[in-house]
Amino acid sequence: MAKTTRTTKKEKDEILSEALDLDTDGFGKSAASSEVVLDLKDLQTHFTTRWGTVKAVDGVSYNVKRGETLGVVGESGSGKSVSALSIMRLVPSPPGEIVSGEVILNGRDLLKLSEKEMTSVRGGEISMILQDPMQALNPVFTIENQVGEAIKIHQGLRGKVLVDKVVDSLKKVRIPAPDTRAKDYPHQLSGGMRQRVVGAIGISSAPSVIIADEPTTSLDVTIQAAYLRLLRQIQQEEGVGIIFITHDFGIVAKMCDRVAVMYAGRIVELSDVRTIFNSPLHEYTKALIESVPKLEEKTGRLPQIEGQPPLLHNLPPGDAFAPRSPLEFTEEDASIRPELCEVEPGHWVQLCRSSVQNFDKYKHLIGNAA
Ligand SMILES: Nc1ncnc2c1ncn2[C@@H]1O[C@H](COP(=O)(O)OP(=O)(O)OP(=O)(O)O)[C@@H](O)[C@H]1O
Ligand SMILES: [Mg+2]
Repeated sequence: MAKTTRTTKKEKDEILSEALDLDTDGFGKSAASSEVVLDLKDLQTHFTTRWGTVKAVDGVSYNVKRGETLGVVGESGSGKSVSALSIMRLVPSPPGEIVSGEVILNGRDLLKLSEKEMTSVRGGEISMILQDPMQALNPVFTIENQVGEAIKIHQGLRGKVLVDKVVDSLKKVRIPAPDTRAKDYPHQLSGGMRQRVVGAIGISSAPSVIIADEPTTSLDVTIQAAYLRLLRQIQQEEGVGIIFITHDFGIVAKMCDRVAVMYAGRIVELSDVRTIFNSPLHEYTKALIESVPKLEEKTGRLPQIEGQPPLLHNLPPGDAFAPRSPLEFTEEDASIRPELCEVEPGHWVQLCRSSVQNFDKYKHLIGNAA
């Protein structure tokens, strides 16, 4: 078996110099435009289990603009991945089912496409970068084969043109010596380089949207920073919209333009990053921000918030966060589904007395939702 090639000193220096080059403000400037490329409307995805119906995604709406990064944050089990899988129509069925809603990508509702049409959308107009690069790459094929496969399917290229395009994609994700690296197998690359290869596959078809589900959990912190910066650079060059799913509010601050905070299958707050950090209104958002681990004590574990996340098969219709919220709880909060209201332009909050301080200031907005 070939020996695993570790990242060489030169490659490491290159990665580090990129990481140290970080703007204090984040992983690069925003490239967001006002043109909506993906529009999710009232998406509902349920699982049938022997304990009952799990409403993993329970009426989620958000949009992603060209060149924008939308962060999706929330504790484990809040429905982040299932909403992403629903967009890709990759929810395992059974037990899962997309019950209702719309997923409009470049003007077409993906939920209405045939499976054949959907196959060409996946990895074409929209692509997904998975959590673990080793899982995303096949150990028995070379990098050239794997990046080439995606390009072959979506752009019909063959022969020398295809090889050139592969090398070009590897160059875009700043893989040193891309023509020789293309001949390597995944295990011969370092973790950071593998993650870049997965990135290369993700962008090879010039998608409108990339979904990155916890793309950096298996990388160490400096390599993580370099990779995220690279994603931002690619975004600026290609104008791609990114849905960035993570537990890490620290990364969200640097990486995202806007943030959707999910709890128990619903969005409880959505706004631009600055507003979410400076003036969060929902008690769950506040708790998540307070639980951001300090850099020196980063353990890779999930944020701890007092109380347990709720059991999704047995949710009351009302505010699911109420039992954990420090605010007062009323019968009404448990029985009526709170509305997501726009409290100021672009700042949406799921309004209810049990989870929003100064609720009375905003309650006149309820019932006026679009
Ligand atoms: N195949 C399945 N069968 C039954 N329930 C499922 C299935 N897949 C997901 N779920 C449920 O859907 C809910 C949402 O899961 P999801 O994977 O979206 O969470 P997540 O927010 O991505 O969490 P994490 O941060 O741990 O990745 C969970 O309660 C989970 O138990
Ligand atoms: Mg997940």
